[in-house]
Amino acid sequence: MPYGKFITLEGGEGAGKSTQISLLAAWLREQGQSVVTTREPGGSKGAEEIRELLIHGEAGRWDAETEALMMFAARRDHLVKTVWPALDAGSWVLCDRFADSTFAYQGFGHGRDLAPLRTLYDFTMGDFKPDLTLLLDLPVEAGLARAAARNMGGARFEGLGSAFHEKLRRGFLILAAEEPERFAIIDANQDQEAVSHAIQACVSDRLHADSSGGTDEGETAPK
Ligand code: TYD
Repeated sequence: MPYGKFITLEGGEGAGKSTQISLLAAWLREQGQSVVTTREPGGSKGAEEIRELLIHGEAGRWDAETEALMMFAARRDHLVKTVWPALDAGSWVLCDRFADSTFAYQGFGHGRDLAPLRTLYDFTMGDFKPDLTLLLDLPVEAGLARAAARNMGGARFEGLGSAFHEKLRRGFLILAAEEPERFAIIDANQDQEAVSHAIQACVSDRLHADSSGGTDEGETAPK
């Protein structure tokens, strides 16, 4: 059984990640792959419990350091219980946000040094990293307008303001520039179908999605 592939989707609010995950999962299943879709924070029972603590309550409930520790605690449980077993079983795992969100939100967004976050990353998972990270990039105003229209996200992460979101966008682009072999920047400021085609082309090109076999069974990680 081949080891699966781990693909993460990143981006600011309203980038369309969840829609694109569903479309990518459907397309990969058509190629004969076994696919697991999941998200962070969350994706395992324990991590979903931590998520509840993170996304509800007042904005100042947790500071950036506490938030980062909780994100990595949730991430470790998610990896151990959901992601690594699925990859071991040969599935492709598609994850809505991963560690780059911690670097972007708790690091760049809140103006914190990335070095301690990188130490937490090493402690949590060592050398493990996504095979491909799709950064859905779009202008902040366009993303916020879409997010407002859908009234999405937990209350604590709403209303962080456009200055914060500009820092996030710049942060994600810096992370992408540091690791061009892992990241692909997708222009998310176009219609759903065009974004989906760009993603499929990128996954075919980088990971040869249609040539590595696998089964047809889909699964969704526990929420
Ligand atoms: P969610 O409703 O999943 O938002 P979205 O649809 O934008 O992904 O809420 C998760 C929020 O948590 C989101 O605003 C981003 C934030 N977050 C962090 O701040 N750090 C992290 O490491 C992760 C994974 C998410």
